[in-house]
Amino acid sequence: MSDSTVADLQTSLAGGPELPQERRLVTAVPGPRSTELFARRGTAVARGVGTTLPVFVDRAGGGVIVDVDGNSLIDLGAGIAVVSVGNAADAVVARVREQVARFTHTCFMVTPYDGYVQVCEALNRLTPGDHDKRSALFNSGAEAVENAVKIARAHTGRQAVVVFDHAYHGRTNLTMAMTAKNMPYKHSFGPFAPEVYRVPMSYPFRDGPGVDGATAARRAIELIEAQVGAANVACVLVEPIQGEGGFVVPAPGFLPAVAAWSRDVGAVFVADEIQTGFCRTGDWFACDHEGVVPDLVTTAKGIAGGLPLAAVTGRAEIMDAPHVGGLGGTYGGNPVACAAALGAIETMQSQDLSAAARRLGAVMSARLTDMARRHEAIGDVRGRGAMVAVELVRPGTKEPDAAATAAVAKACHAEGVVVLTCGTYGNVLRLLPPLVMPEPLLEEGLTVLDTALAVTAS
Ligand SMILES: Cc1ncc(COP(=O)(O)O)c(C=O)c1O
Repeated sequence: MSDSTVADLQTSLAGGPELPQERRLVTAVPGPRSTELFARRGTAVARGVGTTLPVFVDRAGGGVIVDVDGNSLIDLGAGIAVVSVGNAADAVVARVREQVARFTHTCFMVTPYDGYVQVCEALNRLTPGDHDKRSALFNSGAEAVENAVKIARAHTGRQAVVVFDHAYHGRTNLTMAMTAKNMPYKHSFGPFAPEVYRVPMSYPFRDGPGVDGATAARRAIELIEAQVGAANVACVLVEPIQGEGGFVVPAPGFLPAVAAWSRDVGAVFVADEIQTGFCRTGDWFACDHEGVVPDLVTTAKGIAGGLPLAAVTGRAEIMDAPHVGGLGGTYGGNPVACAAALGAIETMQSQDLSAAARRLGAVMSARLTDMARRHEAIGDVRGRGAMVAVELVRPGTKEPDAAATAAVAKACHAEGVVVLTCGTYGNVLRLLPPLVMPEPLLEEGLTVLDTALAVTAS
């Protein structure tokens, strides 16, 4: 590498929490440089890889993303719930730098290293329950879910996997089968893995007041017993708050009842905390809210401040069911990703990001509830901690309005606020700010959203 390239790199190392925490638009969004790069992307990158907002990133940190045109955008997506500690967080950068200079890869299955063990120890300590636990590390959320199923099948000697309506578990073959929504995740990609059974979720907005958590759990359990057979169930796998499916928060009592039934019939109860974990909902894990202790927990996203890392953590006797050599992969628990995870976890602890999530959540819920009074298109405001959403419907009905949702998101993007959509019907706007987001910046982002709702969806 020439000296000038090194110098260029040094001056461009200016992301992270020191970036001015402001919304600043100096061009249209996307600006000319982003537009040029987006055209190049079209000739180089496969079309199947979609884009929410066609701005190219130069740097990011705290609650902002700075694009190549110099616009500073408010980040209410956190890279889909990943950079909870903020982009390029100090402790993540320091530990990654140090690790990358020592060694980048040996493969933990060939010659192990301490960082992997430390991350497993942290996961065993932080996940719900104080029983004896073990962890195994992987690269992506989908890979963690696949491995949770492998472990549950090895432990029980059974095959059936029970999942829920609106579930999202990934894009590999097995996890596509487990994911509910056809477009864009599954369409034309079958056949899918067998022995996956779907039952109704508790969805208070659409179930109505007559279906409380216990009733919704009974509805699901009766279907499992009748159509799958309790004795065939290897695992029941559920997101404690559904992510891509629409930030669906089950009614109180639903998760504890499903977990208790699973245990009674000898099935492994798996909480997919890939989107909800690591302080996002105001607790370390969303299961903590109702004191649910899963047998296995899958984690990814927020675990490592933006580096690819995922895990399965759970009861030692279940985790140790697979034979030696049955779990792993070349890159799983890469040393640099493990260093990043240790930096991210340290940041969550030292900055008490669960409390920060609750504070940001209170701001978002209050503002969105107020907007719901003024914008008839908002059918429901829901979420927990810094994982909050609005479901948009045609006024006076519960009919999903995906077009209005897309229009509101687009209007926010044009004003320099990154928001994401989700939901089986494409009609949910979700807010997932980095947990280090300054409150005035969050307030400004919400004001932009309020205006976008007034202009496009009322
Ligand atoms: C709950 C849940 N499970 C699994 C996944 C898949 O994770 P990944 O995209 O890292 O494979 C996601 C991703 O959005 C998720 O939200």
